[in-house]
Amino acid sequence: MSPNPTHDSTPTNGLAGSFPADFTFGVATSSFQIEGAVDADGKTPSIWDSFCAEPGRVIDGDTGEVAVDHYRRMPGDVELMRELGMGAYRFSISWPRVQPHGTGPGNAAGIGFYDRLVDELLAAGITPWATLYHWDLPVELEQAGGWPVRETAERFAEYAGIVAEALGDRLRHLITLNEPWCSAFLGYASGIHAPGRRDPAAALAASHHLLLGHGMAVEAIRAAAPDAQVGITLNLYPTDPAGEGEGYADAVRRIDGLSNRWFLDPVFGRGYPADVVADVAHVTDLAFVHDGDTDRIAAPLDFLGVNYYTRHVVAPSAYPGTNAVDFRFRGYPTTATGWEIDPDGLYDVVSRVRDDYPSIPIVLTENGAAFDDEVADDGSVHDPDRVAFLREHLQAAARLLKDGVDLRGYFAWSLMDNFEWAEGYAKRFGIVHVDYATQRRTPKSSALWYAALLREHAGGI
Ligand code: NOJ
Repeated sequence: MSPNPTHDSTPTNGLAGSFPADFTFGVATSSFQIEGAVDADGKTPSIWDSFCAEPGRVIDGDTGEVAVDHYRRMPGDVELMRELGMGAYRFSISWPRVQPHGTGPGNAAGIGFYDRLVDELLAAGITPWATLYHWDLPVELEQAGGWPVRETAERFAEYAGIVAEALGDRLRHLITLNEPWCSAFLGYASGIHAPGRRDPAAALAASHHLLLGHGMAVEAIRAAAPDAQVGITLNLYPTDPAGEGEGYADAVRRIDGLSNRWFLDPVFGRGYPADVVADVAHVTDLAFVHDGDTDRIAAPLDFLGVNYYTRHVVAPSAYPGTNAVDFRFRGYPTTATGWEIDPDGLYDVVSRVRDDYPSIPIVLTENGAAFDDEVADDGSVHDPDRVAFLREHLQAAARLLKDGVDLRGYFAWSLMDNFEWAEGYAKRFGIVHVDYATQRRTPKSSALWYAALLREHAGGI
C-alpha cells in the first residue's frame, strides 16, 4: 500500500478522542462475498452458489466463483488490514467448507483455512471476530428442507460446536447469525435472496428455526469454548411514520414488529410479540414453536451485534382493505443502493435497544455505504461521500457513548468491494477498491481517513 497523502487530508477533528481506549474498531466481510474458490478443499455448493447459477437471480449473472479471490489472497488481505491499523476483523465462516454435507465430522482442509486466517490475524495484532452464518447454507441442507425445517437448527448447532472446538482456543468473539431477518424473509418470502422461495409461511418457520439454531449454537459454543464472547447480529431499523393520521401508527407497529421486535423480543427472553403473532395468524399458527424453544432462543449473550444502514419510514398502504405498508422516501441524499443517509437513525435505533431491552453491551457489527466510486488516472480512488458517511455515523456512535450507552465496537462494512448479493459486483461498499480484472486492492480515501482515525485512537498522530 502506498497511501497518497493528499487523500487522507480530511481531518478527523479529534473524533477518536470520543471513544474509550478499549473501544474496538474494525472492518467486516463475509465468506461468500469475498472468498471465491467455491469448490476448493472439499467445499460443496452453498445455496448462494446454486442461486447465482439460476438465470435472472443476480444482476449481470454475477457469481461468487472468484469474488475477490480472498481464499487465495488471504495473507495479503490481512497484511493490508495491518497496514491500515485495524484492531479487529469480522469475517464469516463458510458452513459448506467446514461441513460439506451439513452434517457429520468437520472437513479438516476447510477448517484449515480459518485456522490459518485466525493465526495470521493474531500475528498481525488484529482480533478475529467470526460470524458462523452469513447466509451460505450447504445446498444439501436446503434440499432437506432448509431453514423452514427444524432439523436445520440442530445441524447448525452441530456445526457451531465443530468451529468452537477447532478454533475456540484463539477465536474469542463469535456471532451466531448475521441478519436472520434477511435469511428468513428475503430468502423464503420475497425470494430475492437464496434460496429464492416465495412462501410466507415457510419464511416465518425459517425465522423461528434460525433463532432456535442460534440458541442451540450458543449452548454448543459455551460447551466447547467457555471463554468465548458470543452474540447475534440483527439488522435493526428505526421505524418512523411518514405522516400523521389514521393508519400511520399501525404501519409503524407492523414493520417495527416484524423487522425488529420479532427478533429482539425472543432473543431477550420475551417470546414472540403477541401483536405480530396476531398479524401473521392468517399465514401460520406457529405450530413449529415447540415447548421450551423460547427458553433456548433466550440463551444469555455477551453482546448484541447491530447492523445499521438506514431508517424505515412507512405509511399505510394506498390500497384500502389490505394490511400492506408502503415504504416512503423523504428526499434525503441516498447511497448507490438508494438507501437514505440518516446517521441520526443509528443513534435512534441503538438508544431504543438500550431503552426497551435489558442492558447488554452493543457492538455495531456493520455500517457503511455503496457509492459509484471512480478510479482516477493515477489509480487512486477518492470517495468523499463515503468519508462523510463514516464520519457522520461515527459521530452518532460517539453521541451514544456520551449518553451512557454501553457501546463496545464499530465495524465498517466493508474492508473491500465485494459480491453484493442480488446486486452482484455493481455496488461497491469497500473502503478498499478492488479492480475485479486484476484483483488489485487500492485503499480509497475512506480507508485512509479511517486509518488516520484509528492511529489517533491508538495514541499515534
Ligand atoms: C448487510 C449484510 O450483512 C452484508 O452482507 C451486505 O453486503 C451489507 N448489508 C450491504 O448490503
